Amino acid sequence: MPDMLVKLYDLPELEPALARQRTMGITIRRGMAPEKHLALEWIGQHFSEYWVSEAEVGFAARPPTIFLAHRGEQILGFACYDTAHKNFFGPTGVDKAERGCGIGTALLMAALHAMRQAGYMYGIIGWAGPVEYYEKVVGAEVIPRSEPPDSYRGMLGTHAIFTGGAPADSFLETH
Ligand SMILES: CC(C)(COP(=O)(O)OP(=O)(O)OC[C@H]1O[C@@H](n2cnc3c(N)ncnc32)[C@H](O)[C@@H]1OP(=O)(O)O)[C@@H](O)C(=O)NCCC(=O)NCCS
Repeated sequence: MPDMLVKLYDLPELEPALARQRTMGITIRRGMAPEKHLALEWIGQHFSEYWVSEAEVGFAARPPTIFLAHRGEQILGFACYDTAHKNFFGPTGVDKAERGCGIGTALLMAALHAMRQAGYMYGIIGWAGPVEYYEKVVGAEVIPRSEPPDSYRGMLGTHAIFTGGAPADSFLETH
């Protein structure tokens, strides 16, 4: 699970991805601080506590650096940037039952376009799980010799991963 690099100046257009979601009654938008408790609870139920910690950082930023996908009151997914490190995309996740319908792509695109608007020319997908997905959707490229990503080395709870005692994806374990 390496880090990956994305050219933010060469992204596919955002609007078609958002429009596709709108036709399915799904809204993709930036998170708002008052709904933080609802989003963090959802992330904790579906993904790891590490991702809850990162999402908190996203909600604390101005503007928030977390995007949400929801259908009415139902949260379907989230995507963050500038949380573990500046210029990093992630974490992101979509409800298992809702995957494969473009929600992840719309969230990814919304966050990457926001990074471009914030002034970044390249973005880094930190500790990328589904490498083929990022290659396919936004032309991301694996950063050579970035596996397991030294950009996270020393983080509490990951010692076994960096000493070869556990697979890198054990960090991404979901419920
Ligand atoms: C990765 C994830 C966010 C993708 O969300 P999604 O809503 O299913 O993605 P999309 O529907 O937008 O998929 C877009 C395309 O990528 C493909 N794709 C999705 N997940 C993929 C994966 N893990 N590997 C390879 N291709 C994948 C889809 O099949 C789809 O292809 P198509 O356009 O030909 O139909 C979601 O699978 C998820 O939450 N995974 C668990 C958490 C995780 O690994 N997060 C990333 C950490 S870096």
